[in-house]
Amino acid sequence: MPLYTEKPDQPDPLCRATRRRDRRKVIQEMSASISLKGKVAIITGGGRGIGKAITKKFAEAGANIAIASRKLENLTATAEEFASLPGNILPVECHVGRNADLESLVRITEKELGPVDILVNNSATNIGQGPALNVTDDMFDKMLEINVKSALRLVRLTVPGMIERKRGSVINIVSIAGLRPSTGGLLYSLTKAGLIMMTRSWAREFGPHGIRFNAIAPGLIKTDFSEFFWKNEDVVKHIESSQPIPRIGDPDEIGFAAIYLASDEASYLTGQTIVIDGGAIA
Ligand SMILES: NC(=O)c1ccc[n+]([C@@H]2O[C@H](COP(=O)([O-])OP(=O)(O)OC[C@H]3O[C@@H](n4cnc5c(N)ncnc54)[C@H](OP(=O)(O)O)[C@@H]3O)[C@@H](O)[C@H]2O)c1
Repeated sequence: MPLYTEKPDQPDPLCRATRRRDRRKVIQEMSASISLKGKVAIITGGGRGIGKAITKKFAEAGANIAIASRKLENLTATAEEFASLPGNILPVECHVGRNADLESLVRITEKELGPVDILVNNSATNIGQGPALNVTDDMFDKMLEINVKSALRLVRLTVPGMIERKRGSVINIVSIAGLRPSTGGLLYSLTKAGLIMMTRSWAREFGPHGIRFNAIAPGLIKTDFSEFFWKNEDVVKHIESSQPIPRIGDPDEIGFAAIYLASDEASYLTGQTIVIDGGAIA
């Protein structure tokens, strides 16, 4: 379903709605028409923040979803909160830095829900924020392990099955920090830039097998992860005075993009990084 139609005599409904301040209602109606019924998804970090918003959208669309992270209580609470939605949600305890946990995540998902059609690599960490000369080898290794290698491993575990079935969609949650560095963010930018390039490489290699790979690069979104930034008055003032859409983003605004990328409606879209940042790096 097109999100945008160019007809001069019929203004884009999204723009008109924006003026009427019910932007989100229109996007909600658009995404509500997308179905993931019968599809199985894995969402790492699906119990809170952006991952939780993606879980909600996918469950509304009828997907059966394994949500995976370290804290089972968050995952279970999310599964309970969304229990009335059409899709089933299966909480799976998993540290994405441990290969054995990732193997068991995929095994449990396939056994309980079926073969994996959609993979969302969303879990990430940000240790080592600060002066570049303070970055240690351990920080470097840990950041690569959690933010990059986990995606590589999950792709290795799920993509062979997708190749057999000739369909699949992988979505990597990256960041505008992977497109534009900021002082103090050496490792975070490095890992997100790496994942962007891996997304493009995978898209090239696996496109002929019917599998699409895309990334979403959020700007500042209000979650626990970014608390340090959105609680900083100077950062908020800067956003309000310089960003084309002068506010902090909402996790749902990433969820809407993820459901589109996961769906068959995005069948001609691969290898891209969708920037959702209120225009911060426009
Ligand atoms: N918020 C922003 O402004 C922003 C901007 C750009 C990009 N992003 C990206 O968006 C994604 C989600 O972040 P968020 O803002 O939603 O943060 P969040 O609310 O803090 O969520 C982070 C998620 O990652 C999981 N996680 C962390 N370490 C893990 C590990 N070792 N193993 C398994 N899961 C782990 C956490 O679950 P547990 O604690 O239960 O393990 C949690 O569910 C990240 O990739 C982040 O880089 C966020």
